[in-house]
Amino acid sequence: MNPRDARRAKEQLAERYGGDVRRGTQERILSSLESLDPHLREAAELYKAITQFDAHVAPMIPADRVRLISPIQSQMVDDDRKKLETIMEEHSLSERELHNIYQRITWDASADAKAIQADILGNVMKPELQERITKACEIAVQATRSEIALGKVLDVGCGHGAIVRSLVDAGLSEPDMYMGIDLSQIMVNNAVNRYGSARNGRTGKGRHFVAGDFLKHDFVAGGICAFDSIIFCSALHNLPDMEASIGKAASLLRSNGGKLVVVHAQGAEHVLEQHRANPVLVKRGLPTSKEWTQMLQKHTEWCLALESCPADAKSPQDMKEGYLAVLTKVSP
Ligand SMILES: C[S@@+](CC[C@H](N)C(=O)[O-])C[C@H]1O[C@@H](n2cnc3c(N)ncnc32)[C@H](O)[C@@H]1O
Repeated sequence: MNPRDARRAKEQLAERYGGDVRRGTQERILSSLESLDPHLREAAELYKAITQFDAHVAPMIPADRVRLISPIQSQMVDDDRKKLETIMEEHSLSERELHNIYQRITWDASADAKAIQADILGNVMKPELQERITKACEIAVQATRSEIALGKVLDVGCGHGAIVRSLVDAGLSEPDMYMGIDLSQIMVNNAVNRYGSARNGRTGKGRHFVAGDFLKHDFVAGGICAFDSIIFCSALHNLPDMEASIGKAASLLRSNGGKLVVVHAQGAEHVLEQHRANPVLVKRGLPTSKEWTQMLQKHTEWCLALESCPADAKSPQDMKEGYLAVLTKVSP
Protein backbone atom coordinates (compact mmCIF):
# COMPACT_ATOMS: atom_id res chain seq x y z
CA MET A 1 0.00 0.00 0.00
CA ASN A 2 1.44 3.40 -0.92
CA PRO A 3 1.84 5.97 1.91
CA ARG A 4 -1.19 8.00 0.80
CA ASP A 5 -3.52 4.97 0.72
CA ALA A 6 -2.07 3.75 4.02
CA ARG A 7 -2.84 7.13 5.64
CA ARG A 8 -6.39 7.03 4.30
CA ALA A 9 -6.87 3.42 5.43
CA LYS A 10 -5.69 4.39 8.93
CA GLU A 11 -8.07 7.34 9.06
CA GLN A 12 -11.01 5.24 7.86
CA LEU A 13 -10.16 2.55 10.39
CA ALA A 14 -10.04 5.04 13.27
CA GLU A 15 -13.36 6.47 12.08
CA ARG A 16 -14.99 3.01 12.05
CA TYR A 17 -13.74 2.35 15.56
CA GLY A 18 -14.95 5.69 16.95
CA GLY A 19 -11.63 7.54 16.74
CA ASP A 20 -9.51 5.13 18.78
CA VAL A 21 -9.06 1.56 17.51
CA ARG A 22 -8.09 0.00 20.85
CA ARG A 23 -10.94 1.66 22.74
CA GLY A 24 -13.32 0.95 19.84
CA THR A 25 -12.43 -2.76 20.00
CA GLN A 26 -13.16 -2.87 23.74
CA GLU A 27 -16.50 -1.14 23.17
CA ARG A 28 -17.42 -3.67 20.45
CA ILE A 29 -16.55 -6.53 22.81
CA LEU A 30 -18.70 -5.08 25.60
CA SER A 31 -21.62 -4.40 23.31
CA SER A 32 -21.48 -8.00 21.91
CA LEU A 33 -21.42 -9.39 25.46
CA GLU A 34 -24.42 -7.23 26.34
CA SER A 35 -26.37 -8.48 23.36
CA LEU A 36 -26.00 -12.16 24.34
CA ASP A 37 -29.08 -14.06 25.54
CA PRO A 38 -29.49 -13.37 29.27
CA HIS A 39 -28.46 -16.89 30.37
CA LEU A 40 -25.35 -16.78 28.15
CA ARG A 41 -24.44 -13.33 29.38
CA GLU A 42 -24.72 -14.43 32.99
CA ALA A 43 -22.73 -17.61 32.31
CA ALA A 44 -20.05 -15.63 30.46
CA GLU A 45 -19.71 -13.15 33.33
CA LEU A 46 -19.46 -15.92 35.93
CA TYR A 47 -16.97 -17.84 33.79
CA LYS A 48 -14.83 -14.71 33.48
CA ALA A 49 -14.87 -13.95 37.23
CA ILE A 50 -14.03 -17.58 38.15
CA THR A 51 -11.28 -17.93 35.53
CA GLN A 52 -9.65 -14.67 36.64
CA PHE A 53 -9.80 -15.74 40.28
CA ASP A 54 -8.35 -19.19 39.56
CA ALA A 55 -5.52 -17.72 37.48
CA HIS A 56 -4.75 -15.23 40.28
CA VAL A 57 -4.66 -17.97 42.93
CA ALA A 58 -2.91 -20.72 40.91
CA PRO A 59 0.69 -19.52 41.38
CA MET A 60 0.23 -18.95 45.15
CA ILE A 61 1.65 -21.31 47.78
CA PRO A 62 -0.98 -22.56 50.29
CA ALA A 63 0.25 -20.18 53.04
CA ASP A 64 -0.19 -17.17 50.71
CA ARG A 65 -3.66 -18.34 49.74
CA VAL A 66 -4.67 -18.33 53.41
CA ARG A 67 -3.00 -14.95 53.99
CA LEU A 68 -4.18 -13.17 50.83
CA ILE A 69 -7.58 -14.66 50.03
CA SER A 70 -10.28 -13.95 52.58
CA PRO A 71 -12.82 -16.66 53.47
CA ILE A 72 -15.58 -14.35 52.20
CA GLN A 73 -13.86 -14.04 48.81
CA SER A 74 -13.45 -17.84 48.57
CA GLN A 75 -17.08 -18.32 49.53
CA MET A 76 -18.24 -15.86 46.87
CA VAL A 77 -16.27 -17.66 44.17
CA ASP A 78 -17.62 -21.03 45.34
CA ASP A 79 -21.14 -19.61 45.10
CA ASP A 80 -20.37 -18.36 41.58
CA ARG A 81 -19.11 -21.83 40.63
CA LYS A 82 -22.39 -23.39 41.80
CA LYS A 83 -24.44 -20.79 39.92
CA LEU A 84 -22.42 -21.39 36.76
CA GLU A 85 -22.76 -25.18 37.07
CA THR A 86 -26.54 -24.79 37.33
CA ILE A 87 -26.77 -22.57 34.22
CA MET A 88 -24.47 -24.91 32.29
CA GLU A 89 -26.55 -27.93 33.24
CA GLU A 90 -29.88 -26.22 32.48
CA HIS A 91 -28.73 -25.04 29.05
CA SER A 92 -26.38 -27.94 28.19
CA LEU A 93 -23.44 -25.57 27.94
CA SER A 94 -19.87 -26.85 28.01
CA GLU A 95 -16.77 -25.05 29.27
CA ARG A 96 -15.41 -25.09 25.72
CA GLU A 97 -18.49 -23.20 24.54
CA LEU A 98 -18.03 -20.58 27.26
CA HIS A 99 -14.38 -20.17 26.30
CA ASN A 100 -15.39 -19.83 22.65
CA ILE A 101 -17.88 -17.05 23.44
CA TYR A 102 -14.98 -14.81 24.51
CA GLN A 103 -12.82 -15.97 21.62
CA ARG A 104 -15.47 -15.33 18.99
CA ILE A 105 -16.53 -11.96 20.39
CA THR A 106 -12.94 -10.75 20.82
CA TRP A 107 -11.71 -11.78 17.38
CA ASP A 108 -14.88 -10.59 15.63
CA ALA A 109 -14.40 -7.22 17.35
CA SER A 110 -10.80 -6.83 16.22
CA ALA A 111 -10.96 -8.63 12.86
CA ASP A 112 -11.33 -5.59 10.57
CA ALA A 113 -8.66 -3.63 12.41
CA LYS A 114 -6.19 -6.53 12.23
CA ALA A 115 -6.81 -7.08 8.52
CA ILE A 116 -6.51 -3.40 7.60
CA GLN A 117 -3.40 -2.93 9.73
CA ALA A 118 -1.85 -5.98 8.01
CA ASP A 119 -2.75 -4.49 4.59
CA ILE A 120 -1.06 -1.22 5.57
CA LEU A 121 2.13 -3.14 6.47
CA GLY A 122 1.99 -5.11 3.20
CA ASN A 123 0.85 -8.30 4.96
CA VAL A 124 4.24 -9.01 6.47
CA MET A 125 5.51 -8.66 10.01
CA LYS A 126 8.62 -6.88 11.29
CA PRO A 127 11.60 -8.54 9.49
CA GLU A 128 12.88 -10.53 12.51
CA LEU A 129 9.38 -11.89 13.23
CA GLN A 130 8.60 -12.53 9.56
CA GLU A 131 11.75 -14.66 9.35
CA ARG A 132 10.31 -17.00 12.01
CA ILE A 133 6.97 -17.28 10.20
CA THR A 134 8.79 -17.90 6.92
CA LYS A 135 10.77 -20.77 8.49
CA ALA A 136 7.58 -22.40 9.85
CA CYS A 137 5.78 -21.99 6.51
CA GLU A 138 8.70 -23.53 4.64
CA ILE A 139 8.49 -26.63 6.85
CA ALA A 140 4.72 -26.86 6.25
CA VAL A 141 5.12 -26.50 2.48
CA GLN A 142 8.04 -28.94 2.33
CA ALA A 143 5.68 -31.67 3.58
CA THR A 144 3.56 -31.20 0.44
CA ARG A 145 6.51 -32.10 -1.76
CA SER A 146 6.96 -35.74 -0.77
CA GLU A 147 6.06 -38.47 -3.26
CA ILE A 148 3.23 -39.61 -1.04
CA ALA A 149 1.96 -36.07 -0.45
CA LEU A 150 -1.72 -35.25 -0.77
CA GLY A 151 -1.14 -31.59 -1.55
CA LYS A 152 -2.98 -30.06 1.38
CA VAL A 153 -2.03 -27.64 4.16
CA LEU A 154 -4.38 -26.70 6.99
CA ASP A 155 -3.97 -23.36 8.78
CA VAL A 156 -5.81 -23.53 12.13
CA GLY A 157 -6.94 -20.17 13.55
CA CYS A 158 -6.07 -18.62 10.19
CA GLY A 159 -7.44 -15.18 11.08
CA HIS A 160 -7.61 -12.89 8.05
CA GLY A 161 -5.26 -15.20 6.15
CA ALA A 162 -2.21 -13.78 7.92
CA ILE A 163 0.21 -16.45 6.66
CA VAL A 164 -1.25 -17.11 3.19
CA ARG A 165 1.34 -14.86 1.59
CA SER A 166 4.17 -16.53 3.51
CA LEU A 167 2.98 -19.99 2.44
CA VAL A 168 2.79 -18.87 -1.18
CA ASP A 169 6.28 -17.33 -0.91
CA ALA A 170 7.46 -20.66 0.52
CA GLY A 171 6.20 -22.39 -2.63
CA LEU A 172 2.56 -23.30 -2.03
CA SER A 173 1.73 -22.56 -5.62
CA GLU A 174 -1.69 -24.17 -6.04
CA PRO A 175 -4.45 -22.30 -4.20
CA ASP A 176 -6.26 -25.65 -3.92
CA MET A 177 -3.61 -26.81 -1.47
CA TYR A 178 -4.63 -24.37 1.23
CA MET A 179 -7.43 -24.61 3.76
CA GLY A 180 -7.84 -22.15 6.63
CA ILE A 181 -10.29 -22.45 9.50
CA ASP A 182 -11.16 -19.77 12.03
CA LEU A 183 -13.82 -19.43 14.70
CA SER A 184 -14.52 -15.81 13.75
CA GLN A 185 -16.79 -15.34 10.75
CA ILE A 186 -15.55 -11.75 10.34
CA MET A 187 -11.91 -12.92 10.24
CA VAL A 188 -12.90 -15.43 7.54
CA ASN A 189 -14.81 -12.79 5.54
CA ASN A 190 -11.66 -10.67 5.55
CA ALA A 191 -9.54 -13.67 4.51
CA VAL A 192 -11.87 -14.43 1.59
CA ASN A 193 -11.87 -10.75 0.54
CA ARG A 194 -8.09 -10.65 0.55
CA TYR A 195 -7.07 -14.06 -0.74
CA GLY A 196 -10.15 -15.32 -2.53
CA SER A 197 -12.06 -18.50 -2.09
CA ALA A 198 -12.79 -19.92 -5.50
CA ARG A 199 -14.96 -22.50 -3.76
CA ASN A 200 -17.49 -19.70 -3.54
CA GLY A 201 -17.34 -19.35 -7.29
CA ARG A 202 -17.80 -21.31 -10.45
CA THR A 203 -14.98 -23.82 -10.31
CA GLY A 204 -15.44 -25.29 -6.84
CA LYS A 205 -11.66 -25.08 -6.49
CA GLY A 206 -9.24 -22.73 -4.85
CA ARG A 207 -8.34 -21.67 -1.36
CA HIS A 208 -10.82 -22.84 1.14
CA PHE A 209 -11.64 -20.75 4.21
CA VAL A 210 -14.09 -22.08 6.76
CA ALA A 211 -15.68 -20.26 9.67
CA GLY A 212 -15.96 -22.74 12.53
CA ASP A 213 -14.49 -24.35 15.60
CA PHE A 214 -11.53 -26.55 14.69
CA LEU A 215 -12.48 -29.01 17.42
CA LYS A 216 -16.02 -29.41 16.09
CA HIS A 217 -15.53 -29.13 12.34
CA ASP A 218 -16.08 -32.40 10.47
CA PHE A 219 -13.33 -32.39 7.85
CA VAL A 220 -14.16 -35.87 6.56
CA ALA A 221 -17.79 -34.90 5.89
CA GLY A 222 -16.34 -31.90 4.01
CA GLY A 223 -14.50 -34.35 1.76
CA ILE A 224 -11.02 -34.05 3.28
CA CYS A 225 -9.44 -37.09 4.89
CA ALA A 226 -5.94 -35.84 5.63
CA PHE A 227 -3.39 -33.03 5.30
CA ASP A 228 0.35 -33.07 4.63
CA SER A 229 0.84 -30.38 7.23
CA ILE A 230 -1.17 -28.53 9.82
CA ILE A 231 0.06 -25.20 11.11
CA PHE A 232 -1.05 -23.30 14.20
CA CYS A 233 0.36 -19.79 13.85
CA SER A 234 -0.20 -17.76 17.04
CA ALA A 235 -3.32 -19.83 17.57
CA LEU A 236 -2.86 -23.01 19.65
CA HIS A 237 -3.08 -21.08 22.96
CA ASN A 238 -6.45 -19.62 21.88
CA LEU A 239 -8.20 -22.96 21.49
CA PRO A 240 -10.26 -24.17 24.44
CA ASP A 241 -8.48 -27.51 24.90
CA MET A 242 -4.87 -27.75 23.86
CA GLU A 243 -4.49 -31.52 24.21
CA ALA A 244 -7.71 -32.23 22.29
CA SER A 245 -6.59 -29.80 19.56
CA ILE A 246 -3.24 -31.55 19.14
CA GLY A 247 -5.01 -34.93 19.14
CA LYS A 248 -7.40 -33.79 16.44
CA ALA A 249 -4.54 -32.36 14.35
CA ALA A 250 -2.67 -35.67 14.70
CA SER A 251 -5.73 -37.59 13.47
CA LEU A 252 -5.91 -35.34 10.39
CA LEU A 253 -2.26 -35.67 9.36
CA ARG A 254 -1.18 -38.17 6.76
CA SER A 255 1.03 -40.98 8.06
CA ASN A 256 4.71 -41.24 7.26
CA GLY A 257 5.87 -37.69 7.34
CA GLY A 258 2.86 -35.41 7.86
CA LYS A 259 3.99 -32.33 9.83
CA LEU A 260 2.44 -30.51 12.74
CA VAL A 261 3.93 -27.03 13.03
CA VAL A 262 3.21 -24.83 16.03
CA VAL A 263 4.70 -21.38 15.72
CA HIS A 264 4.50 -18.16 17.68
CA ALA A 265 6.84 -15.52 16.31
CA GLN A 266 6.88 -13.47 19.53
CA GLY A 267 7.70 -16.55 21.58
CA ALA A 268 6.59 -18.58 24.60
CA GLU A 269 7.19 -15.82 27.15
CA HIS A 270 4.99 -13.43 25.16
CA VAL A 271 2.12 -15.95 25.31
CA LEU A 272 2.60 -16.37 29.07
CA GLU A 273 2.39 -12.59 29.44
CA GLN A 274 -0.87 -12.65 27.48
CA HIS A 275 -2.14 -15.39 29.79
CA ARG A 276 -1.24 -13.35 32.88
CA ALA A 277 -2.90 -10.26 31.41
CA ASN A 278 -6.04 -12.01 30.17
CA PRO A 279 -6.50 -15.62 31.39
CA VAL A 280 -10.04 -15.68 29.99
CA LEU A 281 -8.82 -15.29 26.42
CA VAL A 282 -5.51 -17.11 26.82
CA LYS A 283 -6.04 -20.03 29.17
CA ARG A 284 -2.41 -21.09 29.41
CA GLY A 285 1.00 -20.85 27.76
CA LEU A 286 2.22 -22.93 24.84
CA PRO A 287 3.46 -26.46 25.63
CA THR A 288 7.06 -26.60 26.81
CA SER A 289 9.44 -29.29 25.48
CA LYS A 290 8.85 -31.26 28.69
CA GLU A 291 5.07 -31.02 28.27
CA TRP A 292 5.33 -32.17 24.65
CA THR A 293 7.36 -35.19 25.77
CA GLN A 294 4.81 -36.02 28.49
CA MET A 295 1.84 -35.62 26.11
CA LEU A 296 3.49 -37.81 23.47
CA GLN A 297 4.19 -40.52 26.05
CA LYS A 298 0.58 -40.39 27.22
CA HIS A 299 -0.90 -40.33 23.71
CA THR A 300 1.01 -42.93 21.74
CA GLU A 301 -2.12 -43.22 19.54
CA TRP A 302 -1.25 -39.79 18.08
CA CYS A 303 1.81 -41.39 16.39
CA LEU A 304 3.66 -38.09 16.62
CA ALA A 305 7.39 -37.64 17.13
CA LEU A 306 8.88 -34.35 18.31
CA GLU A 307 11.31 -33.36 15.60
CA SER A 308 12.16 -29.86 16.72
CA CYS A 309 11.78 -28.82 20.38
CA PRO A 310 10.42 -25.36 21.14
CA ALA A 311 12.39 -22.90 23.25
CA ASP A 312 11.33 -22.47 26.86
CA ALA A 313 9.87 -19.15 27.97
CA LYS A 314 12.50 -16.58 29.02
CA SER A 315 15.32 -18.63 27.45
CA PRO A 316 17.77 -16.85 25.12
CA GLN A 317 16.51 -19.12 22.29
CA ASP A 318 12.92 -17.95 22.85
CA MET A 319 14.03 -14.34 22.56
CA LYS A 320 16.18 -15.06 19.52
CA GLU A 321 13.92 -17.42 17.59
CA GLY A 322 10.44 -17.33 19.09
CA TYR A 323 8.41 -20.52 19.57
CA LEU A 324 8.60 -23.30 17.01
CA ALA A 325 7.63 -26.91 17.64
CA VAL A 326 7.69 -29.36 14.73
CA LEU A 327 6.22 -32.86 15.01
CA THR A 328 6.21 -35.64 12.46
CA LYS A 329 3.48 -38.24 12.04
CA VAL A 330 5.03 -41.68 12.06
CA SER A 331 3.58 -45.09 11.19
CA PRO A 332 1.51 -46.70 13.95
C1 LIG B 1 -4.03 -14.58 17.65
S1 LIG B 1 -5.14 -14.93 16.36
C2 LIG B 1 -4.00 -15.51 15.14
C3 LIG B 1 -4.51 -15.34 13.74
C4 LIG B 1 -3.50 -15.69 12.64
N1 LIG B 1 -3.14 -17.08 12.63
C5 LIG B 1 -2.27 -14.82 12.76
O1 LIG B 1 -1.16 -15.36 12.84
O2 LIG B 1 -2.42 -13.58 12.74
C6 LIG B 1 -5.93 -16.44 16.89
C7 LIG B 1 -7.05 -16.89 15.99
O3 LIG B 1 -7.50 -18.17 16.44
C8 LIG B 1 -8.89 -18.23 16.19
N2 LIG B 1 -9.50 -19.29 17.00
C9 LIG B 1 -9.72 -19.30 18.33
N3 LIG B 1 -10.32 -20.43 18.70
C10 LIG B 1 -10.52 -21.17 17.58
C11 LIG B 1 -11.12 -22.43 17.32
N4 LIG B 1 -11.64 -23.17 18.31
N5 LIG B 1 -11.16 -22.88 16.05
C12 LIG B 1 -10.64 -22.14 15.04
N6 LIG B 1 -10.06 -20.92 15.24
C13 LIG B 1 -9.99 -20.45 16.49
C14 LIG B 1 -9.38 -16.84 16.56
O4 LIG B 1 -10.65 -16.53 16.01
C15 LIG B 1 -8.25 -15.96 16.02
O5 LIG B 1 -8.51 -15.49 14.72
